[in-house]
Amino acid sequence: MTDLSCVIAGVPFKNPVMMASGTFGFGREYSAFYPIDELGGICGKGLTLHPKEGNPGIRMWETASGMMNSVGLENPGVHAFLEQECPYWETLDTVRIANLGGGCLEDYTEGARLIEENENKRRKEGRSAVDMIELNISCPNVKEGGMAFGIQTEEARKVVRAVRREVSMPLIVKLSPGAEKLTEMAYMCEQEGADAVSLINTISAMKIDVRSRKSVFRHGYAGLSGPAIKPIALRMVHQVSHAVNIPVIGVGGISSGEDIMEFIMAGASAVQVGTAGFADLRAGVRLIRELETLMIEEKISHLDEVRGIV
Ligand SMILES: Cc1cc2nc3c(=O)[nH]c(=O)nc-3n(C[C@H](O)[C@H](O)[C@H](O)COP(=O)(O)O)c2cc1C
Repeated sequence: MTDLSCVIAGVPFKNPVMMASGTFGFGREYSAFYPIDELGGICGKGLTLHPKEGNPGIRMWETASGMMNSVGLENPGVHAFLEQECPYWETLDTVRIANLGGGCLEDYTEGARLIEENENKRRKEGRSAVDMIELNISCPNVKEGGMAFGIQTEEARKVVRAVRREVSMPLIVKLSPGAEKLTEMAYMCEQEGADAVSLINTISAMKIDVRSRKSVFRHGYAGLSGPAIKPIALRMVHQVSHAVNIPVIGVGGISSGEDIMEFIMAGASAVQVGTAGFADLRAGVRLIRELETLMIEEKISHLDEVRGIV
């Protein structure tokens, strides 16, 4: 018997495969193509306290082995999410993770507070829509000059500490590959009470149009994702899982069951799949099946047998 289940921060997952934030909307569109309850979990589009229009101009660019995006966190805001998307999330039988970004500390704390307050109200009525919060600390701190919170450990500490004080819901902190000291950053998250870390977010990258002699992206740089970043993500997950005792969720370029197994062997408790879903709408469920087949072939009955084996 193969058992794909896992538990992160006390939350039981059917299997270790979640859809990554920003690549799956809030799941509704995908439910027309397959039962998304088969997934281990879903991470919603990155939310900010107030609605955000996102970036002007070109937002996506395909690259060899991946893509770049400059979406700029277009989203309806926390209030609209709670009113319009949570009734749908209530109907799902998969782990539901709200991904939260912010331009200043108060955006994160107020956003997290509202999500938890709303969830507590639902639970009193015997309902539930959100199981976990994932903090995206890669957002620029607009109040203090635009440097992303996720670069310097002490800047990130302020966010994690403040949000942890505000809410008791399971908290995942999503780390940026641009962090100055990645393992120190992950350890800080553990010290400040995060229940898990996920990594990596996209890698800062660029595309130049030689005819116009300009970057194709209005803001100059964009985030690289997909198979091109997988070896880097895998190395970072390996390093971080040796630096912390909380679960590590591996993200970056995963597009096969074998890729998932690599992340598990590097120490991940679970994974998130993003860009692969653009080329194959059913990537999430396909990968679960591929992972199960690989486990049978390799006579692995539970992923704990090989987790962190490398
Ligand atoms: C179009 C697009 C939008 C994204 N939006 C978000 C977001 O809102 N919040 C977030 O934490 N990560 C966001 N990400 C990053 C992904 O969740 C993931 O960390 C990254 O793409 C690496 O995984 P992948 O190679 O499987 O796509 C986005 C990625 C893409 C491609």
